[in-house]
Amino acid sequence: MGENVTKSQGFESLRDAAPTISVGMLTANLLSLGSEISLLEKTGVKLVHVDVMDGCFCPMMTAGPPLIKAIKTSLLKDVHLMIEEPLEKVADYVAAGADIVTIHPEACSHVHRVLQKLRTFTNVNNAERGIVRGVALNPGTPVEALEPLLDEVELVVLLAVNPGWGGQKYIPSTTRRIARARRLIVDSGKEILLGVDGGITKENIAEVAATGADLIVTGSAVFDGKTPEANARFMLEAAVKAARSRRPGTSA
Ligand code: DX5
Ligand code: ZN
Repeated sequence: MGENVTKSQGFESLRDAAPTISVGMLTANLLSLGSEISLLEKTGVKLVHVDVMDGCFCPMMTAGPPLIKAIKTSLLKDVHLMIEEPLEKVADYVAAGADIVTIHPEACSHVHRVLQKLRTFTNVNNAERGIVRGVALNPGTPVEALEPLLDEVELVVLLAVNPGWGGQKYIPSTTRRIARARRLIVDSGKEILLGVDGGITKENIAEVAATGADLIVTGSAVFDGKTPEANARFMLEAAVKAARSRRPGTSA
């Protein structure tokens, strides 16, 4: 199958980088966020993942558009919105410099409309990059909820933890869900990337990457209070190596 739709540069660069990691900042030192992100820029990492929590959809509150705007980086800003009813709010995140905007259907009365709206925005960092539109599912949401959204999405993210905090444990059924989501995507004939977010550690990243995930979000395994640069390199290399070893004809 396949489709004849021109994709944005942002989507293409993600697809070409896959599998890759997006580094979550929840457990970074927020008082020195700029230097924490500068460290990542030296490692080959291409994405910084910002978890936006509103204290309603998620118990905790984190960042809003001003923080996203304040982040000056060459990395793509991967903004994960864990907020109620983002329809009227997404414009502010795009204006703040989001390259990827991921929303939750569990938090939207009209999730399809939010995705349609995201399609109309211009990326303020680089107009040709476009906005990569993501849909994230909580661990308790059936993967089939994705099916009606596949026409309006470039990235599907399966949460491997319940949203709320960094440093939680990977829920094992996620591995099965990744395979189901991949099947839905393949059956749709669309070119859509698949990501996984939460509970990815140095110990399990190879296993998760071997499921075929394109984008692996990793927070506390990188920002562990010790060696973020070395950790980021380790996670990136482990993801690439595991993905290579599952493809016939390539060496690990
Ligand atoms: C969970 C967040 C995740 C999480 C990742 O609510 O969406 O991005 O913080 O952090 P780790 O890798 O520590 O699970
Ligand atoms: Zn996240």
